[in-house]
Amino acid sequence: MSKTVVAFAPGRVELLGNHTDYNEGLVLAAAIDLGVTARAERLEADVLEVSSETNGRRAQASLDQRAPFTGDSAWANYPLGVIRTLRDAGLEVGGLRLQVSSNLPLGWGLSSSAAFEVSTALAALSLYDLSVEPMTLAKLCQKAENEFVGVQCGLLDQASSVFGREGEVIRLDFREVSASTVPMPAHAALLLVDSGVPHELSGGEYNERRAQCRAAAAALGVRALRDVTSKAVAAATSLDPVTRARALHITGENERVQAGVAALEANRLDDFGRLMFESHESSKRNFGNSTSFLDSLVEIAAATPGVLGARLTGGGFGGATIWLVEKAQAPAILQTVPEAYHRKTGATCKVLLTKPSQGARLLHG
Ligand code: GLA
Repeated sequence: MSKTVVAFAPGRVELLGNHTDYNEGLVLAAAIDLGVTARAERLEADVLEVSSETNGRRAQASLDQRAPFTGDSAWANYPLGVIRTLRDAGLEVGGLRLQVSSNLPLGWGLSSSAAFEVSTALAALSLYDLSVEPMTLAKLCQKAENEFVGVQCGLLDQASSVFGREGEVIRLDFREVSASTVPMPAHAALLLVDSGVPHELSGGEYNERRAQCRAAAAALGVRALRDVTSKAVAAATSLDPVTRARALHITGENERVQAGVAALEANRLDDFGRLMFESHESSKRNFGNSTSFLDSLVEIAAATPGVLGARLTGGGFGGATIWLVEKAQAPAILQTVPEAYHRKTGATCKVLLTKPSQGARLLHG
């Protein structure tokens, strides 16, 4: 019987450290308990056959195909890009049939793309008895997305999917390109509350923010915004207002990640929650990546007993918010939020209880 391999890679939530990854900065994130499962088996021919239970589609390509899929098959660029990138890196993955399924809600900004890439890579490597270091795996998946899918994302999503640990928050340093974990206090729970307005990374705003951060670093005479403090930015009155605001967000976020690690280590969840609210305020005022719907959710969070902190998570411009809540109060909060949101905005939100979970792994094979 031919060998079958099954790999799972989770989505992620970003808890603090917004848009810092491509500024060589710091992030606190967690893998969640939902993600993408990829089942792979070998094929004799040098082809990739992929089918998705989630969208009901199939696609097929030669392993040497350089041109990305277009139109209805564009979703298959994630696995094709991963296989091409692995082969270009000298990892001799051969022909394979891949079946994928996802239980991640789409459009919430939980990195379903990264979960798709990482599960594909893990399944394909294991099928051909190959392996790479975890950070290399994350980087190769990011490369596939940057070069093959054409989204200029940073490394956060793939690294979070790879380095997740049950009950732990991942501290990522994108200058050192390293990951470590910090335990999440047991009485905390995480809620995802989706604004109902989908998050779209392919929109031009993400790349525009990247360019603005690069311009801010150049104007401040540093290699990356990681090299400056928020105090120095605040004092740099010659910067134009937009550049200054963007730089204040990134430098403030790096500082909030450091304060957040200290708060977790001291079991001070109130402080951690306050940092999350501050982070959202900075997204809104300085980075311009919030929406009125995300703001409404965070305002509701601030007025709800048992909520310690809330903010947008990931790229922004739509998608979900992440709430840090007292575990004992989570069921009551889950009940009341949809109605409060509907009353405030007329829109419908969806709520999901999640938890810091184990990163990408083989389920079989
Ligand atoms: C998206 C990107 C990440 C990161 C976040 C913002 O999720 O894919 O690389 O930049 O936005 O922190």
